Amino acid sequence: MAGGRPLVALLDGRDCSVEMPILKDMATVAFCDAQSTQEIHEKVLNEAVGALLSRITLTREDLEKFRALKIIVCVGSGYDNVDIKSAAEMGIAVCNVPSATVDEVADTTMCHILNLYRRVTWLHEAVKEGRRPQNAENVRDIATGASRIRGETLGIIGLGCTGTAVAQRAKAFGFNILYYDPFLSDAMGKALGIQDVPTLQELLYQSDCVSIHCNYSEHNNHLINDFTIKQMRQGAVLINMGHGSLVDEHALAAALKDGRLRGAALDVQENEPFSYENSPLRDAPNLIVTPHAAWYSEKSWVELREGAAAEIRRGISGRIPDSLRNCVNKEHFPASGPLSGPAGMHIAPWLETAPIHSGPGLPVPSAHHHETNGNTYSGPPRYHHPPALPPPNIAAAANDSPVPEVPRGNMAQIGPMVIPRAASSSPIVSRQSPVPALPQSGKVEAGDNAMKE
Ligand SMILES: NC(=O)c1ccc[n+]([C@@H]2O[C@H](COP(=O)([O-])OP(=O)(O)OC[C@H]3O[C@@H](n4cnc5c(N)ncnc54)[C@H](O)[C@@H]3O)[C@@H](O)[C@H]2O)c1
Repeated sequence: MAGGRPLVALLDGRDCSVEMPILKDMATVAFCDAQSTQEIHEKVLNEAVGALLSRITLTREDLEKFRALKIIVCVGSGYDNVDIKSAAEMGIAVCNVPSATVDEVADTTMCHILNLYRRVTWLHEAVKEGRRPQNAENVRDIATGASRIRGETLGIIGLGCTGTAVAQRAKAFGFNILYYDPFLSDAMGKALGIQDVPTLQELLYQSDCVSIHCNYSEHNNHLINDFTIKQMRQGAVLINMGHGSLVDEHALAAALKDGRLRGAALDVQENEPFSYENSPLRDAPNLIVTPHAAWYSEKSWVELREGAAAEIRRGISGRIPDSLRNCVNKEHFPASGPLSGPAGMHIAPWLETAPIHSGPGLPVPSAHHHETNGNTYSGPPRYHHPPALPPPNIAAAANDSPVPEVPRGNMAQIGPMVIPRAASSSPIVSRQSPVPALPQSGKVEAGDNAMKE
């Protein structure tokens, strides 16, 4: 890559239409559509300096396969699928995008809480089954468990971005709100007008509704288990938005079956994608399961991806880790080494004056319109050092600057570089050649209409 255009790979997806406009003037963008590192092409393992990913797992062993990687951005707030400590030891910064889905997660949490209190899902099912309540007693029969929210106590475990947003919403419904977060001072609660409790036990003991919003670590595996469920109030409800492994599903199933808990809603599960068939929760009553989708809306999906691409851009054009906004493994960087200097390490010093994308949702400066040293410069992007010629097999993809501005979604004309799965001997597609028709499902196959490696 030295002196050339850095390679950035989307590891577990194939749609780069949001990322391309943000990165195209400084990087070659490829996608792998892989589910494990075994499926990632050698080219990406050898040359990618940046990686974007959603759910693919990167253990130490996986990370060791990458030879040039300097920055990983998890497209979301969770990053427990990446061994961030090992990454830091290898000089790889890991970042997340913590803020783009806060509203969606908080709104979905309230949906689940309202559903458990107001029994909307069950009433809907009863109507679908043909039940037609004729009088108040019939209504009571199908709405059993419905209860008033005002005056109830909501206990929030983990008062970070999403926990705080839930607290703000829940207040309007009349909940008294407590939180337990051993990593925060009580000042946060004071600012929000909610009460901090010093122990998990106290929160469980005082809450009618417990909502989990902490991140997962080896220290809080099965935070909610048989023992802690017994500390909850009889008939309490439980919501988990944080991480599946925070709740022991065997213990939860038992508590729902014997009525110790009145209901539960889980957006995250111990094994995802969730299957009722294979779960201890398969015959648990009063349970709502959603498929780790609390974060999703059309807007949040785009903002997440813009935020992730902007972080890659900051990493490439600035210094790692100091130019990054959301680096989650800074504290694990060794005291000496390439990242330990006063400002960190340059991935591509010749791109240092490339404009920094100003943030999700904001327009990306055109490749023809660069701000350098405060002066507006119209023309092709400038480099401190002219880029060296890239290897011949990606020449067409990488050496086409200046790249014309492409409207979002116009990937058929100027798309990302397509790097097929490792198992295939198939092609790499130039950004300037039309992207070949992709199979409806499955991966890019050898022999597509594309340049051979
Ligand atoms: N279901 C979804 O779609 C979805 C979407 C976004 C985030 N999440 C998950 O929700 C969790 C929280 O996200 P966030 O953005 O609010 O994170 P955050 O980092 O802003 O907040 C997490 C909070 O949990 C606290 N915490 C950590 N361990 C704790 C413990 N043992 N007990 C109590 N508090 C503890 C931390 O101090 C922090 O304040 C993450 O695991 C994230 O992956 C899920």
